[in-house]
Amino acid sequence: MQSTPLFLRCTKWKGFTFSALLLLGSSGSLHAYDAAIAPEASSGLTNTSVFQAQTFAVAAANPLATEAGYQILRAGGSAVDAAIAVQAMLTLVEPQSSGIGGGAFLLLSSDQGMQAFDGRETAPAAATGDLFLNDDGEPLAFMEAAASGRSVGVPGLLKMLELAHQQHGVLDWSDLFAPAVQLAEEGFPVSARLHTLLEGETHLREDPLAAAFYYDNGEALPEGYILKNPALAAILRQIAEQGSQVFYQGDIADDMVNRVQQHPAGSGGLTLEDLLAYQPAVREPICTPWKVYDVCGFPPPSSGHLTIMQVLGMLEYLPVDTPVHNGEQSVDWLHRFIEVARLSFADRALYIADPDFVEAPGGDWNTLLNPRYLASRAAIVGDQSMGNGGAQAGNPQEFFTAYAPQSDQPEYGTSHISIVDGMGNALAMTTTIEAAFGARILADGGTGLAGGYLLNNELTDFSFRPGDAEGRLIANRVEPGKRPRSSMSPTLVFDTETGEWVASLGSPGGAAIIHYTARSLIALLDWQLAPSEVVGLPHTVTLGGPVWLETDRFAPETLSALEALGHDVSERDLTSGIQLLINIPEGITGAADPRREGRVMGD
Ligand code: DON
Repeated sequence: MQSTPLFLRCTKWKGFTFSALLLLGSSGSLHAYDAAIAPEASSGLTNTSVFQAQTFAVAAANPLATEAGYQILRAGGSAVDAAIAVQAMLTLVEPQSSGIGGGAFLLLSSDQGMQAFDGRETAPAAATGDLFLNDDGEPLAFMEAAASGRSVGVPGLLKMLELAHQQHGVLDWSDLFAPAVQLAEEGFPVSARLHTLLEGETHLREDPLAAAFYYDNGEALPEGYILKNPALAAILRQIAEQGSQVFYQGDIADDMVNRVQQHPAGSGGLTLEDLLAYQPAVREPICTPWKVYDVCGFPPPSSGHLTIMQVLGMLEYLPVDTPVHNGEQSVDWLHRFIEVARLSFADRALYIADPDFVEAPGGDWNTLLNPRYLASRAAIVGDQSMGNGGAQAGNPQEFFTAYAPQSDQPEYGTSHISIVDGMGNALAMTTTIEAAFGARILADGGTGLAGGYLLNNELTDFSFRPGDAEGRLIANRVEPGKRPRSSMSPTLVFDTETGEWVASLGSPGGAAIIHYTARSLIALLDWQLAPSEVVGLPHTVTLGGPVWLETDRFAPETLSALEALGHDVSERDLTSGIQLLINIPEGITGAADPRREGRVMGD
């Protein structure tokens, strides 16, 4: 079905009126949208509204982005069409988290089966293992590496979306950018969350374009400020009209390469040749049986699905009588969850990296999920914690590896989108520029207009050290053309017996994406909690060392009980952004994480 943008219509959000694009479907009927977009606070926890739809639904991290996806679905667009419109809008309204300067993993279930579209950034051809080492051979501080040209990988998002659209698009590519172009030209209200993050940010202020665009004499633009982004509007218009190639060669590409190569805080190796050479990949998703479900997720270079399914798989051997009671997760269950997370993260650190560069243990990533292997790993869990650094990687297939494990590094800014259309397609896409505001480089595409899009710092997802003290190499070290290991975990769940779609979910949160998604699957499908309870449950995270409990969400007795079991416990903000859609007899329901500004809409 082709569509033609017709005219503009007004809708309200936070007292702000914007014109929404209406689309005409092939049936000739007008698909109009009238509902006001509800206000959504961003700091602290918000109430998750109860939501229900019959045919299609979209959940995204910002109401304006959800609205864009909703309009596309309502105009007869497919889930992939809607994801493109949501992503274009997120580039504008949630620039801190994702955008055309970054990459994404799109997991799709359609009549062609399951596909994993990989738009992960790649390292430039000139990148070497010492990219993030200083002159003494020591790793740079994280922000020194991230806020510079050095960290910028070849953006993969647009080529990946274009490929997915060629296979699954229903509406014209050009129509999908119209809502974002329009709001970029007319202006959108700066959200509370964007304001807060701008205010707390130091490195973005050092970028001259960003300082002039997001700040007024050093003050972060206030919440509600109507921000126009003419540079992004012009770039998105070109992409809409000429396809993704206009981003990878010509003025936009020249501008990107110049900014990266000439960055005052550290030059990066990105070239025009790297941009031209970028290829998205379509990978085989990994579907893993768990209880009465098939849980399908993204294969490497994401570590997400494998690590999540190790956690879920090991917990099957460690049952607890009352894992949760009145919304409180029991100490017994938390202890087991933390311990199996330690073991999973030890395997992840040793084995998982770009499959085009490293071999899976035993030649198959599923060896890491072998039930006998997971039973042997679960048997390591005792009454007392194995403690900080106590978990070692296992050996799933008597597999000889010469690799050294990678140590943990911080990660920060990402967005998740869940969509179900009326045509039987289910989609989960996690999208990122890595840290909040990425490399802190705003690029105007050579337009000379105000604003633009932010470049990713995805290369800091590689190990900063290429090897260990004994000279063993690390699987996830920097190599030319390689994709950095990710934690992003777009997930689709199906009923094993009927094959019916059950749920679509995922979250931002760096390595903690794995904990957020694993625990959401358990809360939804094992504990049978309602979607709003699932996304609202307090979080627990460990990467193998200290244990973080979400601030002010656990009873003091829980903290002390975990300490008594040998865990090194502290509290911190754990800002997940879970977008959950599930199948119910009446249609579709879902919830957006109360920790961010997400919203679910559908019909
Ligand atoms: O791909 C990854 O795993 C990271 N670059 C994701 C970063 C992230 O989720 C930060 N979120 N708040």
